[in-house]
Formats: sequence, structure tokens, C-alpha cells
Amino acid sequence: MVIYMDNAATSYPKPQEVLSAMNYFFQEVGGNPGRSGHRLSLKSGEIVYDTRDVLARLFHIEDPLQIVFTLNATMAINIALSGLLKPGDHVITSTMEHNSMARPLRYLEEKGVELTRIDCPAPTFQLDLEQLEKSIRKNTRLIAVVHGSNVVGTVFPLEEIGKIARKHGICFMVDAAQTAGAYPVDVQKAGIHLLAFTGHKGLFGPQGTGGLYVDPGLRLESIYRGGTGSKSEEDRQPDFMPDTLESGTPNAMGLAGLGAGGNYILREGLPTIRKKEIELTNQVVQGLSSIPGVFIVGEEKAENRMPLVSFVMKGLTPSTVGEFLDERYDIMTRVGLHCSPWAHQSMGTFPEGTVRVSLSYLNTPSQVDTLLQAVRELSREEVKL
Ligand SMILES: Cc1ncc(COP(=O)(O)O)c(C=O)c1O
Repeated sequence: MVIYMDNAATSYPKPQEVLSAMNYFFQEVGGNPGRSGHRLSLKSGEIVYDTRDVLARLFHIEDPLQIVFTLNATMAINIALSGLLKPGDHVITSTMEHNSMARPLRYLEEKGVELTRIDCPAPTFQLDLEQLEKSIRKNTRLIAVVHGSNVVGTVFPLEEIGKIARKHGICFMVDAAQTAGAYPVDVQKAGIHLLAFTGHKGLFGPQGTGGLYVDPGLRLESIYRGGTGSKSEEDRQPDFMPDTLESGTPNAMGLAGLGAGGNYILREGLPTIRKKEIELTNQVVQGLSSIPGVFIVGEEKAENRMPLVSFVMKGLTPSTVGEFLDERYDIMTRVGLHCSPWAHQSMGTFPEGTVRVSLSYLNTPSQVDTLLQAVRELSREEVKL
């Protein structure tokens, strides 16, 4: 049996109810949401709305219609950045960003947006809030940062960043790709204006789902336009949410699964999910720290991090380690740069990267034991690769 420890890339397996909800949609519903007046279209629209509602409850969003569905977090981040920023605006970000934030920002920088990257130094790779506040200029329009790092698991303090943004009247955008569903995210408490999330990681939905929350006070320019099922008599894009930013047939079957994933999380409870993930992460950290030649990168306290651990092994490339775990032990991990070159440059692990073990609520302590046994075996000199 495969031991899946690559949940930061995409979660697997999914709870049974996610599969059932998608199966139900495919077999019994099938209609295009919000497009036609017949029963199956209405049912499909209801399922899509229910998913918005579940996510609004999870992220403490007042109005579910302020959530725009996208294919993933990448699309959500692009809609937000390109819809908000103009040449001459200044953006502050961090060096821990995933390429889904780094590349659109780099592109916009080349088009005249000013960009400051705040360094996040070892050993914790935390955001330096003093430096963040000092970097604010007259034209600073946005602070855009990741919530939980996909490389070292560091979690940025959203409420404190939000306070700084509020004090200076700046928009605050968060990439919650890693934290949505796995760590508390409260849009109201943190004063978040734009929240990008993906459906297929901690939220247990399928690939091809994600979304963007937009503060009701913000108007983003659409980066694409088209059919919405509303105001069909007009050839101009509607100006109300979510239609203004959400054109074309959505992934309704995927959203049925995402809604079931969200309901699963609400039912199990985030504190229960966090508790299990902290226990598993502690087991990984403590086990790996006791193996000679293994070096963990980043914060060691599981309470302050996402359930993922990045490490390197003396004398072995990350890809050698990953291949060994896969071929000899059926353990799936991710090796390399994890789409985050800036982070690895800060960490001193560029260009080979690290081995990343990422857990979910559905992993077990005995799977972690097998991982530790495998790494221990690999660390012994007699292992022939
Ligand atoms: C921190 C972070 N942001 C954004 C993304 C992009 O997510 P998606 O591929 O679903 O767009 C990822 C995916 O790994 C991520 O870890």
C-alpha cells in the first residue's frame, strides 16, 4: 500500500463523502448551474451556492457571494493582482512566496509596478514585521503574502500584518493555498481584503477547484469576461459579485466535491484536525532529528508550522532520497524547489532543494514510523543505491 506524504502538493486520499458528492452530481444532477430554468440546472446552482456558503463559514466571510470560484489558487492570485494593480503602484511581498505569487508579481514589475520583497531569515523564516512596516511608501497599494509556507511550513501572523495594512490604509492579500482547511483563517479578524485558496489541498476537494474572496469595498477589473447566466440581454459584463469576476461554466462537479470537503472539515472541527497534524509533525521532526546526517530546515515546533517538514541528508541529493523512499518503501514525498526559488535562495538550499514530507489529517502514526525506518536505513552507510 502506498504511503502518501505529498499532501502539500495535493491531498490524497480524500474523505469518502467527497467522492460520494461528486458521484451524486455526475449521476443525478449534471446540469449547468445558473444557466437554465430546469430542475437539474437549479439543483446544480444550489450545490455551487452551498459550496460558497461552506467556505464562507470556514473563512468567516459575511457574504458567500463575495467568493469567486477559480480553477486553483494560481488563477485566484492572478485575478486579484492583475485586477487591482496599475503601473506606479507599490506592492510588498515576502521571499517565501510560491511561484504562483512570485511570477505574476515579477510580470507586473516588468509592466511598471514597484515591488519590495521582505527577506525571511533562518532559522524560522518568519516575516520581519518591522521591515515590512518600514518598507511602506506613499504609493504602496498592497501587501501580498503567503499564509503558510509550502517549503518550510512557517505560518505568517495574519492578524499582525492586517493591523499594519489597516493602519496605513493598504490592501491586504493572502495566499492561503496551504492553510485553507488545515489552519484557522479568519478574514474578518485579520482584515483580509483578498484571500486566494485552492480546493485540492487542505480542503480535500478535487483538482480544478479554488477561489478568491474579495472584500465588498474593493472593485477589481475582470481579467476575462463572458457568459454568467445573468443579465444575458446585455453585452457588457455584469458589475455585481461574483458574476463580474466569474465567467463561463464552472467546475460544478468539482465544486460539489469541494463543498463536501468543507463540510467534512466543519464536522471534524479544525482544532481536532490541527491536533492530529501537530502530533504527526512532532513525530516526524523528533524522529528525523535523531537520525545522523539528517538536517531539518525551518522552525522545529509543530505548533507554529504547517504539517510539513523539509530536510536534507548529508552526501545524498534530495532526488536520490525521494527515489529511494518511493521505490523501496512506496512513500510519496516531493523533492526539489517546490515552485519556490526565492525561498530556497534564502534557505541556502538552491538549486537542489530539499525533501519535503507533507502530512494530512488522514495520515497515521504507523505511516510516520515507516518513513522514519526508511530514512534511518538510508542514513546507514551499508545502503547501496
Ligand atoms: C503556497 C502556495 N501557493 C500557491 C500554490 C498554487 O496552488 P495551485 O497549484 O492549486 O494553484 C501552491 C501550490 O502548491 C502553494 O503551495
